[in-house]
Amino acid sequence: VAPPRAGPGQWMHREIHEQPQAVARLCDGEWPAIAALGRRLRRTPPDLVVLAARGTSDNAALYGRYLIETLWGIPVSLAAPSVLTVYGARLRLRRALVIGLSQSGASPDIVEFITTARARGARTVAVTNHGGSPLAAAAHDTLLLRTGPERSVAATKTYTAQLVTLSLLVSEAVGARRLLEGHRQLPTLMGRALAVEDRVRDVARRWRRIDECLVTSRGYNYATALETALKLKETCYLVAEPISAADLLHGPIAVVERGFPVLLLAPPGRMLPHLAALASRLARQRARTVVVSSDRAVLRHAGVPVGMPDAPDERLSPHVYVLPMQLLAYHLSRARGHDPDRPRGLRKITRAR
Ligand code: F6R
Repeated sequence: VAPPRAGPGQWMHREIHEQPQAVARLCDGEWPAIAALGRRLRRTPPDLVVLAARGTSDNAALYGRYLIETLWGIPVSLAAPSVLTVYGARLRLRRALVIGLSQSGASPDIVEFITTARARGARTVAVTNHGGSPLAAAAHDTLLLRTGPERSVAATKTYTAQLVTLSLLVSEAVGARRLLEGHRQLPTLMGRALAVEDRVRDVARRWRRIDECLVTSRGYNYATALETALKLKETCYLVAEPISAADLLHGPIAVVERGFPVLLLAPPGRMLPHLAALASRLARQRARTVVVSSDRAVLRHAGVPVGMPDAPDERLSPHVYVLPMQLLAYHLSRARGHDPDRPRGLRKITRAR
């Protein structure tokens, strides 16, 4: 791939915009392998799913947890890798499906987790962008993200590819036809979500001097709130606190004084009434809010509204709602005088030890 036009953050910016094509490529290329694994899982469902991942991949895993539990009814554990890798616990994983998610396929403790889980009798799957990686070698099955190389240190297109892989896999495992069909609209919707870039640039300009903010949502998009806050910390060096909208109302709302910056992700779906009530409360408290939604009523409570296209299904909204948030991380990083392609605290591979 030719390097993008010189300038800070150009890899990140380019890869954010590549996502509609990356998702289309993933659906074209990997769907048969995902469907085959999904069918096998439908015949012999596990009793438990364990998702092992770090950082951005762990945020994709959190989305996977909501989807697997609500749609498939199988309890999910988000792995704490050190339980195996440092404490040497002897987990009983015989009837478990253990999925390791790693863009690089090289995070050593995720590889070790999958290796150990396999030795303990779990069925193991690697979800990675690198077919030749140690993670792929360690697992029984590998699902490829097919995004092409990710040059930006801050992961963007591999995150949405992980979301798509998880939603396709779970939909195939339960035979959710309508949800499967919904995936075909994703590239178009993602393209429309990227068209909010001017509005996002405006938010970045207004927020360029803030020291802290809250990022909140609930349900499937709790993962989007975590991923947004992670990107804001990594690339903007901003203290961005992710919090579930339910938890926010139980006490922490106390930090929201007049002018306090809050990002609220409020897609239509089961959570909307709750998120709309929060938006109205934040407006009454004179918080400095940015509300991201396709719902006109909730957008009316926003300090700055970011209008989104309608997602075909709440369960596919994280795939679309994260895009303006990635753009915000990019533009805010630049507005604060940083280079998001050279984040001072981040390497491409996480080494926990
Ligand atoms: C964030 C980021 C990191 C990685 C984490 C795991 O932008 O890129 O948080 O997600 O280091 O890396 P992988 O997925 O390669 O195991």
